[in-house]
Amino acid sequence: MFKNIQVLTGQPASQVRDSMEFISGSLSVRCSFCHVKPFASDAKEEKKTARKMIRMQFDINRVNFNGRTRVTCYTCHQGQEKPVSIPRSGELGEMFAAASKIPEVEKAGNSSTVDQVLARYETAMGGARALAHITTRVSNGVETSEGGHTNPVTLEMKTTDAGDIVGRIEQTTERGVYVEGFDGMHVWADRQERHEAPSGFQAMQIVRELDLNPATTLRRQYTQARVIGKVKMGEQPSHEQSGEHEAGVANGKRDPASAASVREFGADAYVLEAAGADGEMERFYFDTKTGLLRRRVTSYETFLGPVPLEADYSDYRAVGSVQAAFTTSWWAGGNSWTVRLDEVKNNVPLDAKRFEAPPSKP
Ligand code: HEC
Ligand code: HEC
Repeated sequence: MFKNIQVLTGQPASQVRDSMEFISGSLSVRCSFCHVKPFASDAKEEKKTARKMIRMQFDINRVNFNGRTRVTCYTCHQGQEKPVSIPRSGELGEMFAAASKIPEVEKAGNSSTVDQVLARYETAMGGARALAHITTRVSNGVETSEGGHTNPVTLEMKTTDAGDIVGRIEQTTERGVYVEGFDGMHVWADRQERHEAPSGFQAMQIVRELDLNPATTLRRQYTQARVIGKVKMGEQPSHEQSGEHEAGVANGKRDPASAASVREFGADAYVLEAAGADGEMERFYFDTKTGLLRRRVTSYETFLGPVPLEADYSDYRAVGSVQAAFTTSWWAGGNSWTVRLDEVKNNVPLDAKRFEAPPSKP
């Protein structure tokens, strides 16, 4: 499927793409720092350098660490295009570090066991009974990309009789309607042109975006959870979306000052760590005051190293007797975007067929 793979050979396509997220995050650059269209082109020097660097990473790890991924792009680059001896504070780089490393956490003490944190969250969301009553949700809003492009988006979610969650995300872009879905087992995509199903990192993000009832999902799917401590959310750098970003991006390089800003939640949060369904480590940040989920960071293992996927939840509002986060800011390796909802409706009848993968296109 790819045309010009010289070093990431023998990898499934999804791994090649996920590795690209890792590279972009490690250097705090966008895809265009190394790529012109088509992606297979070697026109940019940076791409050729990156290829040498990948070889170097492999050699270092093979010779010194028995082939285990110990030294990565991030080890040297720390969120900079060129490594500097005294690391500057590139905010994206910091965020990358925050998500890959264990943050400094105070011991939370005995007062906040996993059960207590999750029970408070459930209560804050409306309570187990009210939540169990919600079987479908349709949300309408706008997705804003890093470059400031906005697309109308509709999210539909449904809990099946078996308790699984299925859903679809429909985006209207300049180029047409683009649908992604999850049938409970597989993630699929339906675009104008032929398109393979999202996998790896992308699939993981879609499943998280379609979680109708995270309070219940957490209890069902994350048995090995533990509360690792308490942090001040403001101290953890995070990505903020605005329409001004195009100005901060030149030649695919980010200007940290305008491309990202630290979001001040100004709140303390209990940090719960758990292993997800595929063994990926996740951190959940619960506001100590409101009990609500403010942030979720998933560390996704790629061939070259771990890539963080971060979702920041804000603007919680009541929809009937339950709460829903009306704003979610996503940050994933080389990319960030925000989904702002204007309308959320619960228990709208939805035909299960809507969540089945469309027949594959020729
Ligand atoms: C720092 C440089 C760099 C960045 C940033 C980067 N790439 Fe790459 N990309 C490469 C290199 C090097 C290869 C070739 C790898 C090889 O030869 O095995 C590649 C290959 C690819 C390919 C395979 C193309 C083909 O047909 O051979 C795709 C697709 C791709 N990158 C997508 C992306 C996307 C999407 C992003 C942004 C998320 C991105 N890349 C960011 C360096 C980069
Ligand atoms: C052992 C440390 C180290 C590792 C690991 C490393 N790099 Fe580098 N990289 C450097 C140094 C040092 C430079 C600057 C070289 C110079 O200034 O001539 C550099 C430069 C680059 C450049 C050129 C930047 C520019 O502005 O022209 C790219 C692209 C790059 N590295 C990509 C990567 C990628 C992708 C990885 C992971 C696969 C990686 N590097 C891993 C040390 C490293």
